[in-house]
Amino acid sequence: MSKADFKGQIPEGSTEAAMLASLDENRMPRHVAIIMDGNGRWARQRRLPRVDGHRAGISAVRETVEAAAQLDIEVLTLYAFSRENWKRPKDEIETLMELLKEFVAAELGTMLKHRIRFNVIGRIHELDPMVQKCLQEAMTLTATGDGLLFNIALSYGGRTEITEAAAAAHRFLCRPENQHRELDETLLSSFLYTSGQPDPDLLIRTSGEMRVSNFLLWQIAYAEIWVTEVLWPDFRRCDLLEALVAFQKRERRYGGLENEGGPSRPTDVLAPSR
Ligand code: IPE
Ligand code: IPE
Ligand code: MG
Repeated sequence: MSKADFKGQIPEGSTEAAMLASLDENRMPRHVAIIMDGNGRWARQRRLPRVDGHRAGISAVRETVEAAAQLDIEVLTLYAFSRENWKRPKDEIETLMELLKEFVAAELGTMLKHRIRFNVIGRIHELDPMVQKCLQEAMTLTATGDGLLFNIALSYGGRTEITEAAAAAHRFLCRPENQHRELDETLLSSFLYTSGQPDPDLLIRTSGEMRVSNFLLWQIAYAEIWVTEVLWPDFRRCDLLEALVAFQKRERRYGGLENEGGPSRPTDVLAPSR
C-alpha cells in the first residue's frame, strides 16, 4: 500500500484531501495508539443492544488499520479489551470474543496482502482457548510482515504489564551472569509487551472521555493526547487524519525548551546505565 493508493481513494477537493495534503511526511508519528471507546453509547443512541455497537465498531477498525498502513505509520495499537472489561456481563464478553474471531478470520487475507504484522499484547492466556488459537494462527501467519505492526490489546492492563515486567526483570537480574547489572529504564522496558517498539507518539481516545483507563501507562509518558467526541463506530479515516494534522501542530518538548536544539526523545536525556 502507498500514500498514492490512499490519495486515489479520497475525493479531490474534499476536506480529507486537504488534510492529507497538509501532512508533513517527515513528521508522521511512528506509533499511534487508540482507545476505541463509545460503542455502547453509539448503540444506545439508536436504541440498539450494546453488542450492536461493538459489531458496528468493526468497520472503524478495518478502516483505521488500512489508513494507518497506507500512511506508512510503523505501529498502530488498538485497545480492544481491558482486564477491567472482564467485569462486564458474560453475554457482552462472549459477543466481543466472537466478533474478534470473525474480524481476524475476515481480515487475515488483507493483512497478508499488505504485509501487516498482527500482534496481541496483554494476558492472551486468559482468553477462551478457541480465541487464543485463532489469534496465535494470525500472529504466526503474519509474522514475517514488514509493513504496519498492528498490536491489539486484549485482556490488557497497564499496571499488570509493568508489574509483570518488573517481576521478569527481577528474575533476569537474579541470574548469576547478570549480577553486575542494575535495573534501569531501558532494561525494564525491554520486558514490556511492546519491547523493541517505539513508544506511542500519539494517543487517540474516542467518545470524549478524558482518561487513559490503564492503557500503556509506561509507554505514553510523552505521547501527545487527542480526544475526539466521535464515538468509535463512527470513527473514519478523516478522523484519523484530523488527529494527525493536530499532532503535527503540536510542539513536543520532552521537558526541554523550545527551539534550543534539545533532546528529541526522552531516552536521549536518561542517565547512562551504571
Ligand atoms: C468500547 O466501547 C469497547 C470496549 C471497551 C470493549 P464501550 O463498550 O466502552 O462503550 P461505552 O463507553 O459504554 O459507550
Ligand atoms: C477502555 O474503555 C478500554 C477499551 C477501550 C478496551 P472502557 O469503556 O472500558 O473505559 P472506562 O471504563 O470508561 O474507563
Ligand atoms: Mg467505554
